[in-house]
Amino acid sequence: MSVNENADPNREHSDPNRRDFLYIATGAIGAVGAAAFAWPFIDQMNPDAATLALAEIEVDVSQVAEGQSITAKWRGKPIFIRQRTAAEIEEGKAVDLSELKDPLARNANIPGDAPATDENRSAESKEAWLVMVGVCTHLGCIPLGQAGDYDGWFCPCHGSHYDTAGRIRTGPAPENMAIPPFAFTSDTTVRIG
Ligand code: FES
Repeated sequence: MSVNENADPNREHSDPNRRDFLYIATGAIGAVGAAAFAWPFIDQMNPDAATLALAEIEVDVSQVAEGQSITAKWRGKPIFIRQRTAAEIEEGKAVDLSELKDPLARNANIPGDAPATDENRSAESKEAWLVMVGVCTHLGCIPLGQAGDYDGWFCPCHGSHYDTAGRIRTGPAPENMAIPPFAFTSDTTVRIG
């Protein structure tokens, strides 16, 4: 080994072992991110006393403008509350029900065999509003809003695409995202549970 090689300040960057370590460290950060993404699926199976106590919540939606969403937490699950745009409503209504992968509304507020029309998925007499359990029906990740091939939600875990009414359109998820029991108790308040 020469004296010059030891003195090289860049030597550690050319050391293959150190490079490998950096790649591994980067990969580990990615893995932590993916694990954090799946929290509600585990959380909802073991509700503690505090989450059970929140069997019913009231959410102020006065700050949710058209085209915006908020996420509330109910019984340990994320609840997406979105005021849809006129274009999103039109898109949801234009869908031929025969194209749907899951033909059922999955809405706890109406009969279990109700079809998955846009009307049956949105709030009663308030078609702009969608209140939905924000958990992918495949394996429980939280989908990303206003994303995917149908302008609704996209679950990056395994590639499920939901439309503007939260109905599954393509990907491995078997069902439309669930609509929880809810009601508007005023123009700006939603009670969930
Ligand atoms: S958990 Fe959403 S696609 Fe698998």
